[in-house]
Amino acid sequence: MKIEYIGGAYEPGAFPDTSGLPEICFIGRSNVGKSSLINTLTGHRQLARVSSTPGRTQAIHFFSVAQRYCLVDFPGYGYAKAPKKIRMSFQPLIRSYLDSRQTLRAGFLLVDVRRDPRQDEHDVVAEFATRKLPLLLVVTKIDKVSKTRRGGRVQQLASALKVDQRNAVGFSTLSKDGKDKLIRHIDRLVGG
Ligand code: GTP
Ligand code: MG
Repeated sequence: MKIEYIGGAYEPGAFPDTSGLPEICFIGRSNVGKSSLINTLTGHRQLARVSSTPGRTQAIHFFSVAQRYCLVDFPGYGYAKAPKKIRMSFQPLIRSYLDSRQTLRAGFLLVDVRRDPRQDEHDVVAEFATRKLPLLLVVTKIDKVSKTRRGGRVQQLASALKVDQRNAVGFSTLSKDGKDKLIRHIDRLVGG
């Protein structure tokens, strides 16, 4: 799989040229594991920068995979110290992305297995429903809870967010649990 970093968008409307490839975007609270997930899916350890400081990824970053589709890394929301407007999931940069990308096929909403969904996550679900775009729930860091609790936790989070169980996947960058399932979902969503 050839993975390329295409570029970043730092302000609304200023998106890099992606040659019209279909896109999947990764949405979630700061530190939930968006960049780590992209690294694991593409098999590149440091492609999307993994932050030790939350709130590190402040732009939208585009990665093309095998010249077939793009994975799009969103800035994390919910990090304190930013004005309320920037802290929300739908800050102007993200809104501009959602409003303008005809190539967007689906969103992956990431939620930490140890946290319960908050208003931000409900907002994301509602936003994708309104736009009639598929949304997949990725429950991250499942290595942080015991094996016996994982399945139940994924189910719990899916029903809390009213996401179909078939569209909810538990994931861990450490064990690679969920990787194959997510790749199958991506293949289906981008058509082939
Ligand atoms: P922002 O860019 O700040 O929004 O964060 P992000 O969502 O991109 O999170 P990132 O991938 O940078 O990961 C945040 C921290 O969680 C890092 O220290 C990762 O090593 C850790 N992490 C990510 N995925 C997992 C996982 O599956 N298991 C465990 N145990 N840690 C993880
Ligand atoms: Mg990141």
